[in-house]
Amino acid sequence: MNKQIKQTDLEMIQGDITKAQVDAIVNAANSELIGGGGVDGAIRRAGGDAIEGACAEIRRREGGCPTGKAVITPGGNLHAKYVIHTVGPVWEGGNSGEAELLASCYKESLRLAVENNIQSIAFPSISTGIYGYPTEQAAVVALTAVKELVLQSNTVPATIQFILFDEATHACYVDALLTVF
Ligand code: APR
Repeated sequence: MNKQIKQTDLEMIQGDITKAQVDAIVNAANSELIGGGGVDGAIRRAGGDAIEGACAEIRRREGGCPTGKAVITPGGNLHAKYVIHTVGPVWEGGNSGEAELLASCYKESLRLAVENNIQSIAFPSISTGIYGYPTEQAAVVALTAVKELVLQSNTVPATIQFILFDEATHACYVDALLTVF
């Protein structure tokens, strides 16, 4: 299901983000930028050593990436030229600022995309796997954050995709699209 916000196409797709034909894909990373499982493991396997090399450099320079922030590396062997690594919050029941931090992940990733002249970007469902954020709530936070940023900014990518791995997650994002727009 698709939606247009100003000049941006917002697309909900079920699939594997490592296959995305976009300029940049977003990774659900950890603040140490050390390879994990989930989408992080899949992206690193598909992208190869260039991703870990660039993450190691960021670790040396900046110590990693705080929750709610984002950093950018090359995409290595991926079709995507870049990977934007963002660190979602671990779900602790909802009263520890999780929604603000999750919204910040999407906004910071889009800001980095604009800075790097990225025209098309794909997001996974950040925090809803190993980090335990309830998917229905995360989907509303994600789409609200993207909508706000696109409406506020003069420059944004022409295409923003959400690539959701499983059918249940895809269904939550389609529902959220109808709620938020
Ligand atoms: N394409 C798209 N989505 C995927 C893929 C893939 N190839 N593989 C997994 N996913 C989905 C999961 O099904 C889930 O819906 O990504 C979503 C996010 O799940 P996680 O990868 O577990 O991310 P998160 O909950 O943010 O946890 C981050 O997990 O891998 C570690 O290093 C990472 O410590 C960090 C933590």
